[in-house]
Amino acid sequence: MNRLKSYEVFKPGLFPEYTYVSRMSSEVMFSYEFRLEQALKTPGYLTSIIGPSKTGKTVLCEKVIGIDNIVSITGSDFKKSTDFWNIVAIKVGLAIEGEYSKVNTLKESINDENIQIKSSASREKYVSNKDLVIDYFKGNNLVLVLDDFHYASEELQFDIAYQLKDAIRKEFKAIVISLPHRADDAIRKNADLSGRLNLINIEPWKMEELKEIAVVGFKELGIEIEDLVAERIAVESLTSPQLMQSICLNLSLLSNIDQANKLDTTLIERSYKATTVNLPYKDVINKLQAGPSTRGQKRKKYKINSGDELDVYGIVLEAIALDPPLISITIDELKDRVDELIENSNDKLDKNKLKTTLEAIQDIMTNSAAIYQVFEWKDDQIYIVEPLFLFYIRWGVK
Ligand SMILES: Nc1ncnc2c1ncn2[C@@H]1O[C@H](COP(=O)(O)OP(=O)(O)OP(=O)(O)O)[C@@H](O)[C@H]1O
Ligand SMILES: [Mg+2]
Repeated sequence: MNRLKSYEVFKPGLFPEYTYVSRMSSEVMFSYEFRLEQALKTPGYLTSIIGPSKTGKTVLCEKVIGIDNIVSITGSDFKKSTDFWNIVAIKVGLAIEGEYSKVNTLKESINDENIQIKSSASREKYVSNKDLVIDYFKGNNLVLVLDDFHYASEELQFDIAYQLKDAIRKEFKAIVISLPHRADDAIRKNADLSGRLNLINIEPWKMEELKEIAVVGFKELGIEIEDLVAERIAVESLTSPQLMQSICLNLSLLSNIDQANKLDTTLIERSYKATTVNLPYKDVINKLQAGPSTRGQKRKKYKINSGDELDVYGIVLEAIALDPPLISITIDELKDRVDELIENSNDKLDKNKLKTTLEAIQDIMTNSAAIYQVFEWKDDQIYIVEPLFLFYIRWGVK
């Protein structure tokens, strides 16, 4: 039997056949797989999966349903005024649109009286096409997965919810996936759907669960990894299984383990750096570090212990990047970190200055594209929204 290669085992961004980790949802102490299976075996219910980005929502569906039985459609596939069932039908190769236009062209060649009849015939078809899709899904044991539901407009979200409400009564299986707080109104707070919902909240990954990816993966490869090493990588991955997969893969590649059969742990930090190479955060850092316009005035610079001179915006980002990596940082923790950074004790920054700086950064993020929304400043705390960003400011080229 051929030995597995590291790129077959560690799969950032794809279904991880050999490093799949099953997790418990701590709210209810059942595994996520069980909960999804339970949901799918409760006909008449719609399933709503909500969780932060890259926490394994799609992978969970693939695990439980099987890739071949998923019909996946994303929120952005739905354009305004396009019929929901039509889009689903096209996706599975039921050519409904063609039949429509045939009916419509016929219309023109007949007299006024018949137009009435024909257009109602087309409406009839409309209804039965929905049934056709539902039958096709049931017959082939398919599940509709509506991914990135938050990308659909609010109006459309309500329309889709309405369509699904009717379909699930006919035992059509559907899952709606979305980021936290973005689809609550149309699905979870929709009175029409109350009592007919399976709610699955995917929680952030814990360190032990992340560690498991390295332990299982290197075992598959027949390579020993010390517990402490797996733990170090897990701490660095913060809450992201994808980051964990990426670092393990890069460490394997740098160690050349597919030939050498041995992990070179002196290369861990280099593998972090290699993992940042393709992350898209350079512009984000530049923009946040620049802060709001000063209309030509120069900001005060502070000398930090590395010898560099940074203004308050640079200092705040530098402080966020310090050890240990934390998913949330209170203002007191941040103040301690800033004090640690600034050499001259007469030059310390006070908490109010740090707060106004963070408010200004929050303003910049709020008024920029989605990629810039990497953390949130609220209730005197920094909450890291994008673990990859924190990883980048720790290890990337700034
Ligand atoms: N259960 C798991 N075990 C091991 N690795 C996992 C698991 N779940 C996810 N991953 C890793 O994380 C990556 C991202 O997972 P996935 O695409 O499912 O996240 P998502 O929540 O659907 O993200 P998005 O919000 O972008 O749609 C996977 O490609 C895989 O590398
Ligand atoms: Mg996904």
